[in-house]
Amino acid sequence: MYTSLPVADNIFWVGANDRRLERFENLFPLEKGVSYNSYLIIDEKTCLMDTIDGNFIEPLMENVMAVLQNRPLDYLVINHMEPDHAAAITRLCGEFPQLKVVGNSKTLNMIQQFFDFDIAPFFHEVKEGDTLALGRRTLQFINAPMVHWPEVMFSYETSEKILFTADAFGTFGALNGAMFADEVDFEAEYLNEARRYYANIVGKYGPQVQAVLKKAAKLEINQIFPLHGPIWRENLGWFINKYDLWSRYQPEEAGVVIAYGSMYGNTENTAEVLASMLAGAGVKTVRLYDVSKTHTSYIMGEMFRYSHIVLSAPTYNAGIYLPMATLLHDMHELNLQNRKAAIISNGSWAPMAHKLMQAKLAECKNMELLAEPFVINSCLKPAQMPGLQQLADAIATSVNGLE
Ligand code: FEO
Repeated sequence: MYTSLPVADNIFWVGANDRRLERFENLFPLEKGVSYNSYLIIDEKTCLMDTIDGNFIEPLMENVMAVLQNRPLDYLVINHMEPDHAAAITRLCGEFPQLKVVGNSKTLNMIQQFFDFDIAPFFHEVKEGDTLALGRRTLQFINAPMVHWPEVMFSYETSEKILFTADAFGTFGALNGAMFADEVDFEAEYLNEARRYYANIVGKYGPQVQAVLKKAAKLEINQIFPLHGPIWRENLGWFINKYDLWSRYQPEEAGVVIAYGSMYGNTENTAEVLASMLAGAGVKTVRLYDVSKTHTSYIMGEMFRYSHIVLSAPTYNAGIYLPMATLLHDMHELNLQNRKAAIISNGSWAPMAHKLMQAKLAECKNMELLAEPFVINSCLKPAQMPGLQQLADAIATSVNGLE
């Protein structure tokens, strides 16, 4: 049975929810699933806004056919060519021989790379600012390169002022009946997953997100239709502000993320003692994560949220304990910056991790180390408690100064 739903006057959601996929991009755990949104506009011309993941082509086709009611599909706008949105292009061109596939020159290259059929007879190239008249509605195209791939466009529907934003303003988490962010408790149900999605999928491209936010600021926008997660029709400024903070790499809140790696519990114990000291010094928000247990994507989401970071790990093969090395790699690759930090390391005979972690952290922009790295040898000793308290006090003074 089709699952298409009206989401605006003669605009229908024709996408699908994926609760089976274990990992998005075969990397990121999907505890709450993900939606692939596709929107069908019915006007004098019919127009599909993006397609769907390869596992959901049949549900998409069923939804599209149910809404079209024997009309042909005139246009397919490709705002993003990543396969989670573009897998049904071939099928649609086969089903509708008169279809025009709308995209920019980079879209065309990618279609030719991903598919083996001749797209030329179908392709309708557009450039920044070009418009497409559908009847009552008109679409205007806005390039949004690297949000999250180079070919990405936003499409602006001018009569109801709807912005189709590709991956931007999307979130992990399947839709559970409600289609609109204002129909759910977004902060409780989706915000952490929206931040994790942003940090890990788009986080590297903050300057490009800032560039498109500046373009969007010139438009009157009533609704945001992303390719993942709920649609926005109320309180847009609240979510746009989150995007502004994340893309400027500014924390949302004062708080400390302690990410630790620990082989036998001794480095973990030091992290736990530090957390207690921070709480005792009045720090209200402390989040502890075991880097061997918690997928890096969740820790990255938390690091995009909070102002302070403590990294704690043992030396391993004269290097950094591997899960911590992975986290540091991601911090750099995802461009995390503007945080206050501290380092704790452990080494039983030749402690090295603190030096290596400090060097890795220095590769991230504008990371301020609040104290010299705190080093334990095998385990924390009573004689070191005053030193750890000093570190806790330095962190607490810095955090509490932000509140
Ligand atoms: Fe949802 Fe960049 O694809």
